[in-house]
Amino acid sequence: MAFTYFFRDLHTLELGVKNMAPLVAGRSNVKIWDAGCAMGQEPYTLAILFAENMGRFAFKNLQIYATDIDESNLFEKIIINGVYPEKELKRIPKDLFEKYFKPNGKAGQYQINHLIKNRVRYQSHDLLTLEPIGENFSMIVCKNVLLHLKYEERIKVIKMFHNSLTPGGFFITEQTQRLPKEAAHLFTRVTSDAQLFRKV
Ligand SMILES: C[S@@+](CC[C@H](N)C(=O)[O-])C[C@H]1O[C@@H](n2cnc3c(N)ncnc32)[C@H](O)[C@@H]1O
Repeated sequence: MAFTYFFRDLHTLELGVKNMAPLVAGRSNVKIWDAGCAMGQEPYTLAILFAENMGRFAFKNLQIYATDIDESNLFEKIIINGVYPEKELKRIPKDLFEKYFKPNGKAGQYQINHLIKNRVRYQSHDLLTLEPIGENFSMIVCKNVLLHLKYEERIKVIKMFHNSLTPGGFFITEQTQRLPKEAAHLFTRVTSDAQLFRKV
């Protein structure tokens, strides 16, 4: 199973959400791509952060497309169900946990709120096909995935992301990842303390 958890690198995700939310508040059909989403912890974290930083109406105009190569073929079911064991939910701040999760009737299992669940749509996708799942994304999040790729593959995948973003769209990657010099000119860095970029 892929290593991940709810509210992982909250600092970066929250910065991205807080920067993007005001810019898309009046728009319909706002698209986000979470590439390498594992079992849904990251896209659901993003959805909770957007729900907390946007009005209810604006939030309903947002769709998070969560994709993964998922060699186990289990992620889709987990994400559609939106049910996670209590021990996986410990890092979620108490107020948000109580607001967005309810016991689902089975011991130690919690179901994510349907308003959050409805904003996340999963599909299986291999980044190395270099075929994007769509275009005009306002944000692409790809964290703790690029490090597994070869340097040349990483450049191609980042260029694919760049082509799939709207002008000024946000790109978020993991803290340990620097943009390869061949792709760095395609983005400006939003802040020095997070791997948060905008399409030039
Ligand atoms: C360490 S997990 C990261 C999960 C989440 N993004 C996070 O940061 O917590 C890496 C994920 O990347 C996925 N992955 C690896 N290679 C991929 C590829 N070529 N295309 C799409 N997903 C891939 C794995 O299946 C795994 O779920």
